[in-house]
Parts: sequence; structure tokens; C-alpha cells
Amino acid sequence: MENILFKSHKLGNITLKNRIVMAPMTRSRAIGNIPNELMAEYYSQRADAGLLITEGTSPSPNGLGYARIPGLFNREQLNGWRKVTDAVHKKDGKIFVQLMHTGRVSHPLNMGENTKILAPSAVALRGEMWTDQKQLQPYPVPQEMSFEEIQQTVEEFVNSAKLAVEAGFDGVELHGANGYLIEQFINPEINKRSDQYGGSIENRIRFVLEIAKKTAEAIGGEKVGIRVSPYGTASGMPVYDEIEETYSLLAVKLNEIGLVYMHIVDHSALGAPKVNPSVKEAIRNNFKGTIILSGGYDAHKAEGDLKNTKGDLVAFGRYFISNPDFVKKLTLGLSLQEADSRTFYTPGAKGYTDYTSL
Ligand SMILES: Cc1cc2nc3c(=O)[nH]c(=O)nc-3n(C[C@H](O)[C@H](O)[C@H](O)COP(=O)(O)O)c2cc1C
Repeated sequence: MENILFKSHKLGNITLKNRIVMAPMTRSRAIGNIPNELMAEYYSQRADAGLLITEGTSPSPNGLGYARIPGLFNREQLNGWRKVTDAVHKKDGKIFVQLMHTGRVSHPLNMGENTKILAPSAVALRGEMWTDQKQLQPYPVPQEMSFEEIQQTVEEFVNSAKLAVEAGFDGVELHGANGYLIEQFINPEINKRSDQYGGSIENRIRFVLEIAKKTAEAIGGEKVGIRVSPYGTASGMPVYDEIEETYSLLAVKLNEIGLVYMHIVDHSALGAPKVNPSVKEAIRNNFKGTIILSGGYDAHKAEGDLKNTKGDLVAFGRYFISNPDFVKKLTLGLSLQEADSRTFYTPGAKGYTDYTSL
């Protein structure tokens, strides 16, 4: 089989050395929400990927819903990220930061002082989340965002994208997937607003389009990608009737804005509900930039989907956790280590930077 995975790819103004992307993965090692040397080591160990996408990183103090996730909204965080981008670039890698505002997927114990848990509507997520202080705690009812808070949050994304460029990132990925703030706006079961940000498809995608447009204007569309998860049910996203139309229109609009990629999540191989193939085709047809596929891929499946032009790049998640030299192992056809889920979110080097390389 011809190895498309190892071919280079032009992404905006940069050239990726292969089609293998490290998927964004929260690892909760950012003590005090500040990136550090340990994280720089972790990412640099994996710099053989054509593109690294960082763990979800909050553009706002209000978006730090989980314990020990990094932010990117002040100088201290910027300086921390600079260590990461320097280490990756030293190894000739490319790296985008994933901007993730957790919205209602949050708990006050995980957040700093004078912060607010915001969402399009005051609809709480069912269940509990981890806090370092009191272990599992029920999700609180979020505060419905005012018009001003929406504008402010859009500006926070834009500001964070500018800081990302200053910190040396090659670009940013807007996290529009997996049930976080952007998707909370898109989903009509969670977004119950009656103003211009709720109701029709056009209104529900207004928030993400404003972020995308203003971010692209600020740093250049060739540096802005987005991750989406049509049919995804993570963090309490119910399936609804208009999914196809929603993502089809979103792809048209994001294409007009000129984003560099759309990154499609399909977690059905991990037990999530099926993602109708036609929604992926609609995105592919309407969006002329790069398409990244993700979810449950191995090298064989990735080659097949690239060959059939379903996408241009493939993101791998868990394999990158346990195989720092994942790309090298694929080129040599070597067997892969399995990741230990017990250390996915624990602080420290164990299960993070101590997986062995060849
Ligand atoms: C530990 C862990 C943390 C994750 N954190 C994020 C995240 O911060 N942002 C995101 O978009 N997806 C996140 N994901 C989802 C992955 O990006 C990816 O879609 C998922 O692992 C499926 O791909 P895989 O089968 O190759 O592992 C996470 C997955 C794992 C295992």
C-alpha cells in the first residue's frame, strides 16, 4: 500500500512533514493553569507528528472548568507556552493550541476567584466532575450569558489567539466539539435562547462564526482551524433533528471566512453513537480547506480514508500518549504500546513523559 500518511501536506503557509496529527488531549499537568517544563518535554517527545494539537486550553478565566488545565490569557501562561513551542520547533515540529472554553462543564472549585460559569442557557449538565479539593462534585447550574458576556467571550478568544501567535504557536484550533461552550451554543437542546444567538440554525452558529471571523481577522485564517463533533454526545449533548443542515451550513460559512482546517471528531469506534457518513461528506464538499479525521484510527484505517479522500490528515489520540515515537513506529511497522487510562489526568511525569521510546 502506498503510504499517504508519510507524505507532506501544505497547511496554510506551513508544510507538515507528514499527515499524522497528534489529537488534542487534556492531561491536567498544568499546575496553577500555567504550562511548564514537563509539558514542554511531553510535547517535544512527540514532535515527529506532522502537526501537534495541544490539550484544551482556556482563553478565559471563566473557561478553566477542569482541574490543572492550562490557560492562555495572561503573560505568565504565554511565557509557559513559549517553552513548549520552542521545544517543539527545535525538533522541527509544528504546533497549534486548542482553545477550549469549558462553559457549563465546570465547577467553582476548579476555577479562580471572580470567575463565572457561563453557558448559553441556565441548563446544568447532569452528573459529577472531578475537583482536587473535594473529589467528585455535581455540576452547577450555569449562568445564562448576557449579550455583553457573549461579546466579551468572543473577544477573549480573539485575544487568546493573538497571545498564541506571540507565544510561538503555528496556529490555533477553536474547540467547537465535545460539549464545550461553542457546541453548547450550537446544540438546540442546550441553547434555549430567544435572542439572535438561539433558535434557528443561523442563530445557533452565530457565536462560533463570530469567534472564527474575528480570530481569522486578527491572526490570519491560515492560522485558524476548528474541531467539530456532529452527532457527538460528550458532556451531555443530545442528538437533534437538524444536525446535517447545521454542520453543512457551518462548513459553508467557515469556508467563506477562510479557516485553514476543519477537524471532525467521530468517537463511534469508542462506543459513542454513529456519525452519519453524509454529514462528513457534506463538510468535505462545502469546506475547501484541509480536513482532519479523528477517532479510533489505526494506520491501516487512516491510509484507507486518506486514499478515499475522506480527509487530508488523520489525528491519533491515545496512541500518542503511550508511544512518544508513534510516527517512527509506524514507519517501521512496529507494534504499539497501549495507554494506561489511570494516569490520563494525574499530575506529574508518571504516565506522561515516562513512556519509553525505541
Ligand atoms: C486523555 C484524553 C484527553 C482528551 N482531551 C481532549 C481535549 O482536550 N480536546 C479534545 O478536543 N479532545 C480530547 N480528547 C479526545 C481525543 O482528541 C480523540 O478524539 C480521542 O482520543 C479519540 O481518538 P483516538 O481513538 O485516536 O484516541 C481526549 C482524549 C483522551 C484519551
